[in-house]
Amino acid sequence: MSHEELVKEAFKAMENAYAPYSNYHVGACALCKDGTLFYGANIENASYGGTNCAERSAVFAAYSRGYRKDDIEALAIVSDGKRIGYPCGICRQVLSELLNQKMPIVLSNGQETLVTDMEELFPFQFSSEDLD
Ligand code: THU
Repeated sequence: MSHEELVKEAFKAMENAYAPYSNYHVGACALCKDGTLFYGANIENASYGGTNCAERSAVFAAYSRGYRKDDIEALAIVSDGKRIGYPCGICRQVLSELLNQKMPIVLSNGQETLVTDMEELFPFQFSSEDLD
C-alpha cells in the first residue's frame, strides 16, 4: 500500500474522532507487514487528561492484537488543522518504544504531507535502556 493510500485510510479514521472540546480532529492508520490495518482517532474527555490521541490509539490497537514493532510497516497520522499536525510529546515518548526508529511515519493535513520517523521526531530518547 502506498503512503498516499495509507493517508486516505487515516482520513477515514479521522471521521470517528470524538473531539467536542478542541474541535481538532486527528486520525491514524497503522499498516502491518501482513496487510492488516489498524485505525485510531482522538477521543477526548471532559476530564481533559483522559483524552487519547489518534496515533496512540492506532498503535495500541495493533499491539492489542499481538502485533509488535517488527510487524508494523508504516503509520499515517492526519488532522484537519491549518498545518501538518506533529505528534504530541506523550505520543513521541510512547511511540518511540512501540515503533522501529526508522519506520516511515506519514503526516498530512490534506494539503501538505511529510514523511518522517521516530529517530527524527524524538532524538535523545528516554527508554528501557535507562532502566537496566
Ligand atoms: N491529538 C492527537 O490525537 N494526536 C497528537 O499527537 C496531537 C493531539 C489530539 C488530542 C486532542 O484530542 C486534540 O488533538 C487537541 O489536542
